[in-house]
Amino acid sequence: MKKPKNRILYDILGIVCGLAVAATGLICGEFDRRAEAANRPAAGTVLAVAEAEHTGKGVAKQVKTMSGVTVLHAADWEKDYPEIYASFMKNQENDEITDYLKEYPQLVTLYEPYGFSKFYGSARGHFYDVDDILETGRPHAMAQCWTCKTPDFTNLVNEVGPEVYQYSFDDVRELVREGISCYSCHANEPGDITVTHTYMIDALGPDFEKVAAANLACGQCHVEYYFYPGTGVTSLPRFDLESMHPDAILNYYNHVLVDENGLGFADYTNPRTGVRQIKVQHPEFETYLGKGSIHGSTYTCADCHMGMVIGESGKAYPNHYLTSPLDNQALIDAECSKCHQDLAAEVRALQEKVDTRTTEISDRLVNLTETLAAAVESGAYTEEELDAIRAVARDAQFYWDFVFVENSEGAHNPSLTNECLDKAEALTDEALGMFRT
Ligand code: HEC
Ligand code: HEC
Ligand code: HEC
Ligand code: HEC
Repeated sequence: MKKPKNRILYDILGIVCGLAVAATGLICGEFDRRAEAANRPAAGTVLAVAEAEHTGKGVAKQVKTMSGVTVLHAADWEKDYPEIYASFMKNQENDEITDYLKEYPQLVTLYEPYGFSKFYGSARGHFYDVDDILETGRPHAMAQCWTCKTPDFTNLVNEVGPEVYQYSFDDVRELVREGISCYSCHANEPGDITVTHTYMIDALGPDFEKVAAANLACGQCHVEYYFYPGTGVTSLPRFDLESMHPDAILNYYNHVLVDENGLGFADYTNPRTGVRQIKVQHPEFETYLGKGSIHGSTYTCADCHMGMVIGESGKAYPNHYLTSPLDNQALIDAECSKCHQDLAAEVRALQEKVDTRTTEISDRLVNLTETLAAAVESGAYTEEELDAIRAVARDAQFYWDFVFVENSEGAHNPSLTNECLDKAEALTDEALGMFRT
């Protein structure tokens, strides 16, 4: 069918108009893109928390066990995630160790005769964790000590079963290819956060979904744990979020995890006092998410210890160099300074107070230890009398240790920290008051 003449004219007009609109569109589009490029922060810029998407704010996945999976190592992901990989490798820069026994000589008495009274270096970057466990002066009989050090062991637990906790330390060493790595927090899918340490899943029960994924990722290791007597299985002393308060953890060790004689769990017994002691280990998770935490319900561990950085492509990625937020000035400028005028000064002042109090209590606990040792030696007290003092001394040292070994030195939760120190102080005085004068 032939089109009428005027219809052809309209068509031509239509095409011309269409082209004009398209050209304007193209030009405007170009302007939009240029404007966007001008507004877009430069590569390397750190974003405020609300400005970026965070996988870590969602619900974590749970590792599938007995599924025939082997570990993909960090280098396997370098091509796919070059910027994240580069930031992950920067953990090498956190390489300093201080000797706690020199800094806090009280530990030699308080941890006697446990390994920590002979060798105790401070923590440093994840990159060094395998070196550090091999070089520590503390002896390792069983493989359980690899729990928080390498995905190669985590994967062995997941694929073979809990009996691997009883393998010898040295046999597992042969299988270790690298320290904490992508698999630890992501299994083999770095887009997701997956809890790969099953004891964390068991210890939260139905509360698992209430905790943001990034908190769980870090909490897998930055947490108070114990080795189950007999089987050596790495376990957590709690059942849900409620029972991770230090009072509940102490109750678990005193009254839930008891041996056939009704005695509460002990990591070691001081040979001079006979006190069955609990050695607390880095309870960052319990402290940061515990009662009184100021930021616990809003920020995840990643918000303060990772930070979102604009990459070369313009897309933000989480910085995998895990440092103190006080060493991340760009994060402080972008986020923390909205409310904190001088965060570093605030935190240092708070930590100094906590350190002074903790050290004072260490001195009092040493005094208690020596007084009790002398009382045992003297033969002037009955076993019942001594046991009553020992029970109070054990609890006192637990509350002190809960603060001493927490890596933020009070910054994660000043309120809970001081609550523990108050209890440690009161119990130490109570025990000292039980001796005849
Ligand atoms: C110690 C735990 C941990 C390790 C090890 C780790 N990650 Fe992550 N990763 C996280 C956390 C937590 C987040 C979420 C950050 C957030 O939400 O702010 C994340 C996020 C990611 C994301 C998502 C980025 C986005 O924009 O959504 C990718 C991809 C990723 N990591 C890749 C890797 C790779 C590759 C490695 C190894 C080279 C690795 N991760 C090692 C904890 C870890
Ligand atoms: C698989 C276990 C594991 C996981 C998961 C883990 N950590 Fe660690 N972390 C460790 C160990 C072990 C050390 C001590 C390493 C050493 O000193 O050799 C450590 C050390 C650190 C340090 C250095 C401490 C210092 O005093 O310099 C920081 C910071 C840190 N971790 C933060 C995090 C954050 C944030 C997450 C989550 C994104 C996380 N970690 C997840 C086991 C873990
Ligand atoms: C509100 C911000 C914030 C959050 C969220 C946070 N931390 Fe921290 N963290 C700090 C500060 C501040 C310090 C003290 C740093 C210092 O002394 O330089 C610290 C110290 C640490 C350290 C010792 C590192 C060092 O360099 O001394 C570790 C390990 C750690 N935090 C782990 C965690 C874990 C695990 C979580 C989540 C359960 C977490 N943090 C959540 C602020 C935070
Ligand atoms: C919306 C306001 C706000 C923002 C943003 C904020 N904070 Fe806070 N923060 C507070 C308040 C309020 C307190 C309680 C201060 C007090 O008790 O004196 C606090 C306390 C803290 C504490 C406990 C020690 C102390 O000084 O009392 C730390 C550590 C901390 N914040 C770290 C951070 C970090 C790291 C960031 C940035 C990632 C941040 N905060 C961002 C409001 C904020």
